[in-house]
Amino acid sequence: MAKNKNLHFDSRVIHEALTPDQWQGATLPPIFQSASTQHKTAQSLSDTFAGKKKDHIYMRLTNPTNSVFENKICSLENGKGAVVMSSGMAAINNTCMALLRSGDEFISGNGLFMSTYLLFTGVFKKYNLNARIIDIKNEDEIKNSITDKTRFIYLETITNPGMDVPDIEKIAKIAHAHNLPLVVDNTLASPWLARPIELGADVVIHSTTKYLSGHGAATGGIVIDGGNFKWNRERFPDFKPFIERKGELALLDKIWREHHINFGTTQAPFHSYLAMIGIDTLSLRMERHMSNAIKVAQHLNAHKKVKWVHFPGLTDHNDHETARKIFGNKGFGGMIAFGLENETQCFSLIDNLEMIYHLANLGDCKTLIIHPWSSQYISFDPEVKKGLLITPDLLRLSVGIENVDDIINDLNLALEKI
Ligand SMILES: Cc1ncc(COP(=O)(O)O)c(C=O)c1O
Repeated sequence: MAKNKNLHFDSRVIHEALTPDQWQGATLPPIFQSASTQHKTAQSLSDTFAGKKKDHIYMRLTNPTNSVFENKICSLENGKGAVVMSSGMAAINNTCMALLRSGDEFISGNGLFMSTYLLFTGVFKKYNLNARIIDIKNEDEIKNSITDKTRFIYLETITNPGMDVPDIEKIAKIAHAHNLPLVVDNTLASPWLARPIELGADVVIHSTTKYLSGHGAATGGIVIDGGNFKWNRERFPDFKPFIERKGELALLDKIWREHHINFGTTQAPFHSYLAMIGIDTLSLRMERHMSNAIKVAQHLNAHKKVKWVHFPGLTDHNDHETARKIFGNKGFGGMIAFGLENETQCFSLIDNLEMIYHLANLGDCKTLIIHPWSSQYISFDPEVKKGLLITPDLLRLSVGIENVDDIINDLNLALEKI
């Protein structure tokens, strides 16, 4: 932990949770590459298992390298506790499973990452965990969807690939008025752009694979518990033992104890290490992603071959004002969805790009493009795809941190050839 508690966010990104004195002066933690840890006495291991002593036991449960990363992100998101996992999907699955019992319901926005949508509407259904997928920006729809079986509300800060920005503050108030927690997937914003717990959310999830790492070298996920939600309510009787054990961090304990360690969604310590190398440059990268994205969006918007552009930074975007409020005028994210005439033109544009990478990831330093209709969503029913705003003419661009003129030039040359 940095000695100066008053450091700005941009400095805390670099210094938070680092304890060189404990690592022989090294400024990054060692990679504890060992499946389990030795305890000198039988009492020590017994006390650790019983939770009387805080120590490491076996790497599926905890790992010292992972703990440093957990402390860092937890602090940056203003949370009270965090657990790192093997991927963003592991974090989403474990969090929702810990919140639900068979027969329960939850409410989710319809702007969802593809695998999250499949998890909520397919896999969960098998276990009688019932998602009500609604227009999360419609207050009446939220209120009308709440029943006595509802256990939480879920949304993405910036929806992927719709690029909508729901009003977290407003939705958190509705959730709390009904004694429900709000869970937010903050992957597309990163804590640099939005800190949902400060806006009233109770739980934050990230795929650390994206902006937090920035290099696209390692998958990872994390759950951060704000520690503010009161679980000792009639709606959550199954939380009792977790409240007794961990108090305000009852949910995090439930996620970790019931799901993470038993499902084995362990993060490799090397991946946490790589993410920590990446996060040092988060602020600089985000500034460049933001400033590049607005220029690219404006350029595409004015291009005669581009039919439409969805980017919250454009003044005609439905959520432009909400985005200004939620993001405190720092920017509008680095992701753009735009449309050409049809699928053939989209394929042609991708095939004619020279610098921009064509791959299924986002939040990388490199600019990345994908045609979601024919790739990630290829197995979806066409009507479902359209409901998710995935159309054959849509391209998703994750704007990187290269020189913006090179990004625009690459797009221009490819657009000329379609
Ligand atoms: C918004 C969002 N959440 C979660 C995920 C899943 O993350 P991971 O691929 O690390 O499992 C993704 C992946 O693209 C995403 O875009």
